[in-house]
Amino acid sequence: MAFLTDLTARFKREHVTLALDDIQALILRSRPEPYVGLHAMLHIDDAEGGRDLIRRMAEHIPSAAGWTDDREAWMGMALSFQGLKALEVPQASLDSFPLPFQQGMAQRSEQLRDVGSNAPEHWDPAFQPGTCHLALTIYARDQAALDVAKAKAMDELGRSHGVTLVAQHAFGADADAKNPFGFRDSISQPSIAGSGIAPTPGQERAIAAGEFILGENSETGAPVAMPDPTELGRNGSFVVLRKYQSQVGAFNDFIRNQASSEADEELLAAKMVGRWRSGAPLVMSPDHDDATLGADPGRNNDFDFSKDPRGLLCPHAAHMRRLNPRDSQLTILTDINIHRIIRRSSTFGPKWQRSLTAQDDKGDSGIFFIFISARAYDTIEFFQQEWINRGNFIDLGEERDPLVGLQEPPGSFTIPETPVRRRIDGVNTFNRLRGGEYLFMPSLSALRWIGNADWR
Ligand code: HEM
Repeated sequence: MAFLTDLTARFKREHVTLALDDIQALILRSRPEPYVGLHAMLHIDDAEGGRDLIRRMAEHIPSAAGWTDDREAWMGMALSFQGLKALEVPQASLDSFPLPFQQGMAQRSEQLRDVGSNAPEHWDPAFQPGTCHLALTIYARDQAALDVAKAKAMDELGRSHGVTLVAQHAFGADADAKNPFGFRDSISQPSIAGSGIAPTPGQERAIAAGEFILGENSETGAPVAMPDPTELGRNGSFVVLRKYQSQVGAFNDFIRNQASSEADEELLAAKMVGRWRSGAPLVMSPDHDDATLGADPGRNNDFDFSKDPRGLLCPHAAHMRRLNPRDSQLTILTDINIHRIIRRSSTFGPKWQRSLTAQDDKGDSGIFFIFISARAYDTIEFFQQEWINRGNFIDLGEERDPLVGLQEPPGSFTIPETPVRRRIDGVNTFNRLRGGEYLFMPSLSALRWIGNADWR
């Protein structure tokens, strides 16, 4: 157990093939537990002012080289296409980025199925097209460490010119790392080949580094397309950022109305997620939560669905099984290993309580859903179209993901049972999209390349 929580013990320098000293630490480093942090969104009004800020800020961004060190806080930085344009990065480089990144998240709303109440016209001002140029994230172990890191970042910002702070958002979770719905989150992550970190049980084989780090070989045996020139693209990655407002009270009401006891409520909520609140997987503990299992990194992800082909333990429609079907037989064949993501989401708002009802949903609780992948845009658009807002791949027609689907009446959720399956209606859009952006997370040398305008 100590081996699993002790990164130093799991790290073998002789297994490293990645340029850890050039990769932003945030890509490989998990959030601490507990964690606090800050997202800041900035707009660049003046190219030289923006480059000067990047140059200075890059000095505060740790690399992944010391990622097993016991750090108090770490910062990451990513840029949108409009941000790169505002920094006057050469046109040939801009043209070499993937089209969805060039267009930005709001412009991709159709491909993302971000329509109706999730459409960009309802998004926060910080995410209106062309607004968020640069995103800064600080993760810290405690408030004191966050205050120190934030003061440094704000000091650099205060000394800059031609850059506007558009929005900042604090986040955090307790030691049990529960999200606004009271479920432990960010348990399952891919293992990355060449990072030097041994996989935990259940991570299966390591995924080719090029699925996450640009310039490295991907699962297909070759690198995915990388922005030009190499100095800009190599060792960077792409980031999907989506801000969700959680309707926790409405979710509580829904499970209360469908269940006859508290135990029943817990079972239904677990069926919708695929795990119990503690993180214990349903396939390993089908009848009751098991807090010891949920907290044990040696066991809590060590499962597949081979013993549950019909979904009698964990429904095919559960959020976790939809987004990583593992060895499930799918009606529409998909290579799951090119859809793995490094999740770096952050929770904000009050701690979950059973007593909350829809009346208490004031919009102050939610999740910044963030992931990193070299194929980030293809992956999120595929997820949104096929695995989140449809059910055909698991023979469930138009049924949608019960946590993050954009629901339309009747809002169904199907639980396989014998002799007949149970279908529940009335699932709502429990997480409403309030904005987002497609970002590029450059390597540390690429941040210097941008900051110094090395193309000149
Ligand atoms: C915004 C509200 C969301 C909530 C409350 C939520 C909640 C959860 C929970 C409780 C788990 C299980 C814990 C774990 O295995 O880490 C999970 C897993 C996961 N979620 Fe979400 N999630 C949200 C959004 C999303 C979105 C938008 C996506 C994808 C576009 C997503 C993708 C995943 C993936 C890939 C897993 C891991 C599955 C696995 O590897 O077994 N989540 N989520």
